[in-house]
Amino acid sequence: MSKEVKIVMTGDRPTGRLHLGHFVGSIQNRIKLQDESDKSYYMVADIQALTDNASNPDKVRDNVLEVALDNLACGLDPKKTTMFIQSEIPEIAELTILFLNLVTLARLKRNPTVKDEMKQKGFGENVPAGFLAYPVSQAADILFCRSNLIPVGEDQLPVIEQVNEIVDDFNRIYGETFDRVKHIVGNTPRLIGTDGGIKMGKSLNNGIYLSDSLEEITKKVMSMYTDPKHIHVEDPGEVEGNVVFSYLDIFDTNRVEIAELKKHYKKGGLGDVVIKKRLINILEDIINPIRTRREELAKNPENVMKILKDGTNNARIIAIETMAEVREALKINYF
Ligand code: TRP
Repeated sequence: MSKEVKIVMTGDRPTGRLHLGHFVGSIQNRIKLQDESDKSYYMVADIQALTDNASNPDKVRDNVLEVALDNLACGLDPKKTTMFIQSEIPEIAELTILFLNLVTLARLKRNPTVKDEMKQKGFGENVPAGFLAYPVSQAADILFCRSNLIPVGEDQLPVIEQVNEIVDDFNRIYGETFDRVKHIVGNTPRLIGTDGGIKMGKSLNNGIYLSDSLEEITKKVMSMYTDPKHIHVEDPGEVEGNVVFSYLDIFDTNRVEIAELKKHYKKGGLGDVVIKKRLINILEDIINPIRTRREELAKNPENVMKILKDGTNNARIIAIETMAEVREALKINYF
């Protein structure tokens, strides 16, 4: 396959609604790339979600619609992007099983993304094998549809690296079959949480969601950490490590005014409420149209499920083709 052909593939685990971290980390790129690529796929990664939610199938099931709605509301267009559900493509599972033979346990345990997530979830040695191996299943997600360009958040880069190791090993052992893949991260590859934590996370309770109401946005911004020593308006304040300014740096396009506000804040005389109100307005400008469109789409969940069903049927065609080629390469094509 020619390297010039751009086939985009991306997905979300359906474990909760999506937030601004997803938006700046990968959703914006997805929307852009559906116009700038030869083909684009979006997958609801329900199997991957089950790797650490095995006893919670209802949660995963309920969030399939939610993540699809979030993406559609942001502008993912099913006419341009094939949207499908992972578990409905059994070839992904088949491919995963075959890829697992190319990966050692030691390598799985070394993946920094998986390590971080294991720590965060408190798994220790009792990590589900499926969770430890999710980068291998993600290789299958990416490769079954021959994609080579992957918009993801920065935290996913070690996973993409592992995918390329699988590509290299596969091609070396069984003959040139898959393209190496490239990742593409957003301008803001990682968004800090509203609590100032290193990452906005679905399970960290520090997110501003694409479906949040103005009241929720207001509450979250008003509770953001600024500078604990900035007690009176006239006190000089810190801009470094100030969560509100960190967000303004990302979302406020008026650089000149932000520079002035920072100067004023450092000198003293600029209250937290002023900068917080400014941030609330900016975030509301971004989220309002998404929220409105989301509410509209959510009135007809059956339409969303139909989009996913059509997309799944479409993705299945290439999945079957790829699997035939892989079976031949592995000499497991008997009848
Ligand atoms: N692991 C990704 C995340 O947590 C979701 C995902 C699953 C994905 N399969 C993918 C992303 C394939 C890109 C390509 O965000």
